[in-house]
Amino acid sequence: MDFESLFRPGILGTRPYSPGKPVEEVQRELGLDQVIKLASNENPEGPLPAVVSAVQEAVLEVNRYPDATCFRLTDKLASLLSVDPQQLIFGNGSNEVLDILIRALVSPGENVVFSEHSFIVYPLTCGVHFECGRPVSLDADDKHDLPAMAAAVDDQTKLIIVCNPNNPTGTYNTRQEFESFLDSVPSRVIVAIDEAYYEYVTAEDYPQTLPMLADYPNLMILRTFSKIHSLAGLRVGYGIGHPDFISQLHKTREPFNVNLLSQTAAIACIDNWHEVPGRVARNKEQLDWMAVELGALGFEVVPSQTNFILVRCDTDAGKLTQDLLHKGIIVRPMHAFGLGEGAVRISIGLRAENEACIEALKKILN
Ligand SMILES: Cc1ncc(COP(=O)(O)O)c(C=O)c1O
Repeated sequence: MDFESLFRPGILGTRPYSPGKPVEEVQRELGLDQVIKLASNENPEGPLPAVVSAVQEAVLEVNRYPDATCFRLTDKLASLLSVDPQQLIFGNGSNEVLDILIRALVSPGENVVFSEHSFIVYPLTCGVHFECGRPVSLDADDKHDLPAMAAAVDDQTKLIIVCNPNNPTGTYNTRQEFESFLDSVPSRVIVAIDEAYYEYVTAEDYPQTLPMLADYPNLMILRTFSKIHSLAGLRVGYGIGHPDFISQLHKTREPFNVNLLSQTAAIACIDNWHEVPGRVARNKEQLDWMAVELGALGFEVVPSQTNFILVRCDTDAGKLTQDLLHKGIIVRPMHAFGLGEGAVRISIGLRAENEACIEALKKILN
């Protein structure tokens, strides 16, 4: 049977998303007792105890479907952010909200502009959806080239995705840059700003986009509980936009797209939002420490506003990451992101994990 002929254009040419190797797989393959994963920008701190007990309690209810409208979660988050509940849409990770956006907006022949050196899911999702991706290079400082992205917009452009701060570079665009960009984009084009790492940012000129929603109805913000809130395994993300836009998006999502345990966990995270600053400070301390240590080892370190760090070296990143793997440290080589042969992204771990990474690098480089 010729299955290939059944698929829509774009599917056959798209490679599946390739995540970092799971710890157990590396342990099994290499016979290692201890493996440290610094590859998927997860929070190395586990979920909060209050989140764990809320989920344990909720597990007794999983014979029931979850609330299809995420009513309590929507209400809590709307109060926290001071937005109208109708401005919110939740997804099985912010990944799903992104997928909903592209599916809802783009018809054959139309396109989506994003940065070529950004979150790998953008080209993958666009690839399977009428091959609608239109990638634009970063600027010389590894930042989104917003003027070039605005210039790439044509009559067929439906959506622009701006990742701020950007994965995998950790760089960010300033408030002024982003506002000039919004002013230069036609209002019929939706601008989705992916703020998966929003909470980690400490730069003062980083744009606060929530207040911008009032002036730019074509703006949509994407955020997640996967990173600072340590819920990557439960998959809860959300979009914030104009209520009339969001109400159309709701039509295209699955009825029960955020499961019962995930809704419960996200609500518990909101109830414990006061834990966020401590988490941010601990990440920043380790990020700064890693930047100094990696710099001392001769890496070119790209300044980061996130929970990961991009470094460049003269050696082949593929070989370096393999050598690290054999020492029980998983990091991500960045050739799939088109950032050159020597580029590696290292997620920030706990102090002992970061120290183990630096020690392993010292041994490899010497
Ligand atoms: C820029 C960016 N956006 C979105 C996501 C996905 O987040 P979620 O777990 O909410 O789907 C990630 C995850 O790594 C990311 O780096």
